[in-house]
Amino acid sequence: MSSIHLDPALSGPQITTELPGPRARAIIERDAHTVSPSYTRAYPLVMARGSGSIVEDVDGNLFLDCAAGIAVNATGHSHPDVVKAIVDQAQRFLHMSGTDFYYEPQVRLGEEIASIVPIKGPVRSFFSNSGTEANEAAIKLARYSTGRPFLIAFLGSFHGRTLGSLSLTASKALQRKGFGPTAPGVFHAPYADCYRCAAGLKPDTCQAECLGFLEEQVLVHLVTPSEVAAIVVEAIQGEGGYLVPPAQFHQRLQALARSHGMLLIVDEVQSGMGRTGKMFASEHFGFEPDIITIAKGVASGMPLGVTAARADIMDWPPGSHASTFGGNPVSCAAASATIALLKTHLTANAARVGEHLLDGVKALAERHPLIGDVRGKGLMIGVEFVRDRQTKERATSERDRVVDEAFRRGLLVLGAGRNTLRLSPPLVLTRDQADTALRILDESIGVVERNPAAR
Ligand SMILES: Cc1ncc(COP(=O)(O)O)c(C=O)c1O
Repeated sequence: MSSIHLDPALSGPQITTELPGPRARAIIERDAHTVSPSYTRAYPLVMARGSGSIVEDVDGNLFLDCAAGIAVNATGHSHPDVVKAIVDQAQRFLHMSGTDFYYEPQVRLGEEIASIVPIKGPVRSFFSNSGTEANEAAIKLARYSTGRPFLIAFLGSFHGRTLGSLSLTASKALQRKGFGPTAPGVFHAPYADCYRCAAGLKPDTCQAECLGFLEEQVLVHLVTPSEVAAIVVEAIQGEGGYLVPPAQFHQRLQALARSHGMLLIVDEVQSGMGRTGKMFASEHFGFEPDIITIAKGVASGMPLGVTAARADIMDWPPGSHASTFGGNPVSCAAASATIALLKTHLTANAARVGEHLLDGVKALAERHPLIGDVRGKGLMIGVEFVRDRQTKERATSERDRVVDEAFRRGLLVLGAGRNTLRLSPPLVLTRDQADTALRILDESIGVVERNPAAR
């Protein structure tokens, strides 16, 4: 590995060894003996370092990153402002537990979160280390605050893998297999999947009829609305396939929640922090969460989860919930630096470059019959693959092959849902880099279309 700094504005990848290269292979071999096999590795990337949207592997190959560590590196890899904030804080102190003591970085972050979340009036934040913990806190807070036991969540949703969050998660059955029973008292309803609308309606004219199952079945036959503490919903369904619901879906959900005294918990772990071209995806849909959960991009890669709620809801006594590491001062400092960058230009960049990328993928769809649907907001874009545009048969193995072909050409992307490819690059992505990603996607899809047999 050379000692030069990577140029974050490099637009092109550069693959100089077979993949994986010899150093990567050796590390993967060691991993196989010691690291939990439960991790899902889509392809054999062994990272050495990164800068902006460029990743270098241990063999010196350069990749254009449109995965961002699963939508985490909001400000790009090792943004100098974020690194400086981390170093400055690390030199002062690394940990003191915000659960038992006070420190200013946590207070400052609480103020900043209150000023950016789409919740009117005073807001308080609980700090943890991950998305799943942010949701665990939200579940407990909703139950505590309402005194009600039950929760509504959505099919296809992903909220985390600890047991409380896993009870909400209904993404892949494998994620639950062997771990049951999950926490009782969670009922699932269909999410808005406009490409596959069960009622055959179009998003611009429908009234979110997909919520009929929740209203007419779940809340009639399974659970009394007055016993439901909260509805937990992703603003845009992430792991489920980057599903963008129509605004009516969230607005009708909010009306339903309000009319029965249920809280609306909006999971913005993946969709939040500038990714969709607004600070939070909720802002696209004209509704207001009571509790919002945040993680992933919030600290540009440092572990941090945030459960932010209306102050009148987050009114629980000392000792009721806490976490030793939650709101670690180094993560808080990284989050403050991240928020500053998002506010000054990166959220706007996500909107601008995201629109360009979305247009580009839509243009690819005109040439590639394998693409059934293209959707997204900002730099949260889903490309759904189908074997036949009429039947919409899911092209799962083809999607996996496109992801792999892209990797071989130096583009990092990930799947989402059963047959969707997601583009979730760092929010520093440039137009040139977006064009490079489009070129590689074009080639990769072309290769798979020309060799359809290998399903
Ligand atoms: C919407 C959403 N919520 C929660 C989580 C869980 O976050 P973590 O993996 O940090 O626990 C994820 C992770 O992908 C997510 O996408």
